[in-house]
Amino acid sequence: MFKKFLLIPLLLIETHQVISQSKKQISPEQIESKITDLMAKMTLDEKIGQLNQYSGDWEVTGPVTNKGNKLQDVKDGKIGSMLNIRGYEHTRALQEAAMQSRLKIPLLFGQDVIHGYRVTFPIPLAEAASWDMTAIQKSARVAATEASASGIHWTFAPMVDLSRDPRWGRVMEGAGEDPYLGSMIAKARVTGFQGEGLGHTDAVMACVKHFAAYGAAIGGRDYNSVDMSLQTLWQYYLPPFKAALDAGAATFMNSFNTLNGIPATGNSYLQRDILKGKWNFTGFVVSDWGSIGEMVPHGYAANNYEAADFAIHAGSDMDMESRSYINHLAALVHNGKVNIALIDDAVRRILRKKYELGLFDDPYRFSNAACEKKTLNKPEFQEAARDVARKSIVLLKNQNQLLPLAKQTKSIALIGPLVKAESDMKGFWSVEWQNQDHIVSLFEGMQKQAGNTKLVYAQGCDVTDTSKANFAEAIKAAQSADVVVMAVGERANMSGESKSRANIHLPGVQEDLIKAIQATGKPVIVLVMAGRPLVFNWTADHVPAIVYTWWLGSEGGNAIADVLYGKYNPSGKLPMTFPQTEGQIPVYYNYLNTGRPAQDNAVSNYSSGYIDLTKKPKYAFGYGLSYTTFEYSNLKLSQDSLHNSDQLKVSFTLKNTGKYAGEEVAQLYLRDVVAQPVRPVKELKDFQKVMLQPNESKTITFVINKDKLSFYNDNLDWVSQPGMFDLFIGSASDDVRLQKSFKLID
Ligand code: NOJ
Repeated sequence: MFKKFLLIPLLLIETHQVISQSKKQISPEQIESKITDLMAKMTLDEKIGQLNQYSGDWEVTGPVTNKGNKLQDVKDGKIGSMLNIRGYEHTRALQEAAMQSRLKIPLLFGQDVIHGYRVTFPIPLAEAASWDMTAIQKSARVAATEASASGIHWTFAPMVDLSRDPRWGRVMEGAGEDPYLGSMIAKARVTGFQGEGLGHTDAVMACVKHFAAYGAAIGGRDYNSVDMSLQTLWQYYLPPFKAALDAGAATFMNSFNTLNGIPATGNSYLQRDILKGKWNFTGFVVSDWGSIGEMVPHGYAANNYEAADFAIHAGSDMDMESRSYINHLAALVHNGKVNIALIDDAVRRILRKKYELGLFDDPYRFSNAACEKKTLNKPEFQEAARDVARKSIVLLKNQNQLLPLAKQTKSIALIGPLVKAESDMKGFWSVEWQNQDHIVSLFEGMQKQAGNTKLVYAQGCDVTDTSKANFAEAIKAAQSADVVVMAVGERANMSGESKSRANIHLPGVQEDLIKAIQATGKPVIVLVMAGRPLVFNWTADHVPAIVYTWWLGSEGGNAIADVLYGKYNPSGKLPMTFPQTEGQIPVYYNYLNTGRPAQDNAVSNYSSGYIDLTKKPKYAFGYGLSYTTFEYSNLKLSQDSLHNSDQLKVSFTLKNTGKYAGEEVAQLYLRDVVAQPVRPVKELKDFQKVMLQPNESKTITFVINKDKLSFYNDNLDWVSQPGMFDLFIGSASDDVRLQKSFKLID
């Protein structure tokens, strides 16, 4: 079908400026009255057409239910939006078809622009490790600038699903386990994608997904059911969605999972009561791919007719690819099951966004050949990708300051299956450009900066190899060099949608390869490339230096080389806890203490732990080293006790005590010592990323207000309760440097 579009004669008349422009000024009231006028002309079928979304030819994430003749359907006004159509030519050709429909309502083009469009940025979980909101916002801004220049109006991002389960393949697409960090990142991404607002030609609509609780899929199995208390839902899983909404997110996507027995797509509590009710969301909700129809295998609806009925009642406005709306909504209206007012509301929400985007003024305003050519792959975008990539890297271990590599290093052995990884470097949700773009592998990045240092390469094994046949060559390479840099991990397609893993240890014989290389006695630096926290205990305990690089995008190799050669001092902190082994999952830092708390470093003795392992994770949330060291001192609270209306000022001195300039993410955690219901042992409430020159110190200030002391009680009211609070300032959730308590009086 997609190829067919290519054959459509194209109108190549250039009518647009190549710079970002805003649409004609039009007030919200004028938009509403235009919608009313238009809807008065629409037949029921045309209205239902607006609720229908088809995929183009890149059907990547689910079965296409019926290829049919999409072009004719567009001309017949049966389609309101298409996904997986991109590029000037294709979007323009389809929009021309839409302009042949009776009412000439423009199509919306959506695409998964998750971490970059043409220039690929680090996977979102990696970016979260930067704890740098400016950098994350910039990444989304660049992606939106490129995507919109390529005819796209709408990205299915950000994914703001909190997750405590690294087996779940989609953790790579989110911001990790914490609601506060996740909320900050949700906001940064939405504002990045939407720029100065819908109507500017370099803005794309954000789509906040997956509403809701998808990240808690049982057993980490994708698409699986979710069962959780409403208090947990409100306290942990909903805040990033709310933050995205407050940042102006134009659309939401619902999710595949059931929540406490009800599919999210058919869930009125989520979509009507919370999102469109309590939160007053005026945008529209798109279903996830086929999720309306999936209510049948869920066992919730008997057939797609019933599924359409449930979905429209529950507030799902647009049907992505299940064809339940286009096939059944008219009959549901005629049979008196669905009130036309429900359809009108959904249509109005979708048309509103088309007006806000300026598509009724000029349906082709995003399909602009000159703009596309000029915008994609700009050097400044590549530079931005390199910058974010460097910031996303987490230094896990650096014994005896092995890193950065000494200037006098004469030779480096580059060993491991991922040294030359290129397409993997882009990560799972990158947009496919059929090898048109240059991706910098670790090997190339190291080569470019090697100067007189000799590089030797040996693969040693592939990612999932079970054979050690090539170890000998790798050992020889290691023996010939001053220092060894190893690149191991998962392939990029081992995380992402439908990529859950039961075993998250380093795959194949990779850890054996590390042991063999370490046995040469050469200093070994291990780089782990992955889309999730992995388990690599032997490496963690024996190898002197470990760097977690995730998948860093097109500039990955350059960014890693910057860190290894010391051009950039790593500053990333883990946004997700790393378990010691799968049996500890879910393991997260903000757990409840229990009545029998286990010691961190001891196996259980009638306490809440294990008899065969400590409960401690391998690496804690918020952890990450720098080439320099930071000293925390002089903690002061403006008062020891406060009323709800007060603000408590917390200040301390942060000093760079090492040799290198560097950034520290200073983290503030609180514990509500006694509360009903009980509160976690620690919760992140604020952080600051601070750059310090050697010997420089700064006073850091945080402000604590009532909101930071509040939580959802068992009536789901947002309350604070008087009593003692512990305050922790530190470099990681398990690396507290300063501590004090204060009292909330009322
Ligand atoms: C299914 C995924 O769950 C969702 O995140 C994505 O946006 C859609 N497919 C469209 O590709």
